[in-house]
Parts: sequence; structure tokens; C-alpha cells
Amino acid sequence: MALPSPVPITLFGATSPSGQALSELARGRPLVVAGRRPPLPPAWGGDPPPFLPCDLAQAGETGEAPTGLLISFAPIWTFAPWLARWAARNPAGVAALQGVIACSSSSVITKRFAANRYDRDLVQRLRQAEEQLTLTCATHGLPLRILAPTLIYGQAGPLGDRNLSQLRRLLRRLPLLPLPGQGGLRQPIHCRQLAAVALHLADRLPLAGDGPSQPVHLPLGGDDTLSYAAMLRRLQTATEPGDAARRCWLLALPPRLFQVLAAPLLLFSPKTFEAVLRMGADLAGFTPAHRILGRPPEPFPVLPLVP
Ligand SMILES: NC(=O)c1ccc[n+]([C@@H]2O[C@H](COP(=O)([O-])OP(=O)(O)OC[C@H]3O[C@@H](n4cnc5c(N)ncnc54)[C@H](OP(=O)(O)O)[C@@H]3O)[C@@H](O)[C@H]2O)c1
Repeated sequence: MALPSPVPITLFGATSPSGQALSELARGRPLVVAGRRPPLPPAWGGDPPPFLPCDLAQAGETGEAPTGLLISFAPIWTFAPWLARWAARNPAGVAALQGVIACSSSSVITKRFAANRYDRDLVQRLRQAEEQLTLTCATHGLPLRILAPTLIYGQAGPLGDRNLSQLRRLLRRLPLLPLPGQGGLRQPIHCRQLAAVALHLADRLPLAGDGPSQPVHLPLGGDDTLSYAAMLRRLQTATEPGDAARRCWLLALPPRLFQVLAAPLLLFSPKTFEAVLRMGADLAGFTPAHRILGRPPEPFPVLPLVP
């Protein structure tokens, strides 16, 4: 299918690694950055994209109206209420938009049976925001895709993740790390893969409309599914020879023994206890990015990583 000229994009969350990666992939096409902080100067040189000051948490109007297609890597629980408020005040502006692609999280699925209050509240916030965004877009006839990615990792320009990079720092500090020996499947997605999917959908969304064959909610992962232990081993292998992370001994334990050793955490921090137990839970089975992009799969880890 021949694509028409690229649709202009207004990007929210440009100062996240995925937003940074999208700015880079969208180089040369019309793009405006909306947010609290002006965009960083592009790593490839040239002028930064035009900036639309906009605090999603504030009730006030943005100076100029966002145009084209909105892509958001900001927290969906701030983006969805902002769009609802803006649509109520500016129906003509919303009607002129070409679509919305917003990032939610696979936690809305994987944490829905969590025992601790923090995770249950997170699931509720995500679900309410997804429902609000769906309603706003349906009311104004806007095509919508909600991306629900699992663990996002990697570096784009000067910005990097704060999850696998922290695990790698832990590997550098510890001589030994006990892990559940079985299960714990993960499907981490690199920020560049997530950005590529958003851009791919942005080019097709105005054409696709919201026909019944188009899923609005898209749980999304990377191209490799691997156990927690294998993920850490691959992270070790991806470090420079001589990096202290390589020396940490990954001690795979029988699941029962791992749970018994983690049990004392329950007394001090039920949230940490549950996070440790989740290491053994399978959080995978999402649509791999390469299937949407129509490209060969990329093995984990996709580079660059946070140094
Ligand atoms: N990290 C993960 O593993 C993970 C997993 C699943 C889903 N997600 C989702 O994926 C997206 C990106 O996650 P991330 O962790 O990479 O993001 P992040 O680094 O925390 O960045 C969040 C972005 O949202 C912007 N933002 C936050 N509040 C805002 C407000 N009130 N007004 C305007 N902009 C605001 C931030 O801009 P400022 O520069 O102004 O702070 C920043 O650009 C988010 O929607 C997140 O919920 C993340």
C-alpha cells in the first residue's frame, strides 16, 4: 500500500527515551514537541523541533493548538484527562486532528491481580485513563491506538531507561544474585522498537480508521521471550569485557526455595516482596514489535543500552 505524505505529528513525552527515539526516527518529517520542557537539541545536529509549552497536569490552555496526529509517551493518566479537557473546550481543534496514539502499560493486564495496594491503584489509574481516552476519541471520531508495552529498556540520545540499567548496576555491585531457576518469562522492548511501532501506526492510522478489524488496544513486547535469568545473562554478555557486571554469579534456585528466602521481605515491604515474587512470574506473550513492523526479529538486547 503506497502511503501518502507523512502526517504531521505532535509528540508528548519527547523527553522519555521512546520520545527521543521517535524524534530521531521521524527526522525530516513535520513534528512539533509538546511538553513541560523544550526538546533537546538533536544528536544529529540542526535545530530542535518547534516547541509547544504544555503541562498536561494543568487545566490551562496550551498557547497554540496541537495539530496533525498526537503521539504520547507521557503517563496516560495525565494525557487522557488533558485531552478530554481540551476536547471539551476546543471541539473544532479536536475534530481537525488525524488520530491519537498513546502509551499505556502492560501492567494493566499483568498486575491486575496484585495483592498490594500500590499496584492495584496503578492498574485502576491505567484502566480509567484508557477508558477516558477511548471515550474522548470515539466522541470526536478520532482513530485511536493504545500501546501497552511491557518493560521498556535502552538508550536514545542522552536518555536511558531506569529499569534494566538499574539491574545492570546491581550486577556490578553484587558478587552473587539469587534468582528463580524456572519461569519468569520476559519480553523487554527497546525504546527504539516502541518508537518505530508508534511511527509505523501513525502513518497508517488516518487511512485505517477504526474499523472492527483494527484492535485499539495493543499489548506490545520485544522480539525475544526469555527467562529472567537468561535476560540477565544476556545483559552480562552485552557489557564490555572486564565490566564488573560480568563477574556477578547468577544463582538459579528452585522456585520454592527462592520464595522462602524472599519471605522476610513481606514484613518490611509487601510491595518489594511482590516485586521479587514477580521475578518468577511469566510477563510475556505480547505482540512482538517486528510482527507489526514487518521486519526480521531483533534478538535481545537491542543496542544501544545505558552505559
Ligand atoms: N518504563 C517502562 O518500563 C514502561 C513500561 C510500560 C509502559 N510505560 C509507559 O511508557 C511511556 C514512557 O515511559 P518512560 O518510563 O520511558 O517515561 P519517562 O522517562 O518517565 O518520561 C515520561 C515523559 O512524560 C512527560 N510528562 C510527564 N508528566 C507530564 C506533564 N504533566 N506534562 C507534560 N509532559 C509530562 C515527561 O516530560 P518531562 O520532561 O516534563 O518530565 C517525559 O517526557 C509512559 O507512558 C509509561 O507509562 C513505561
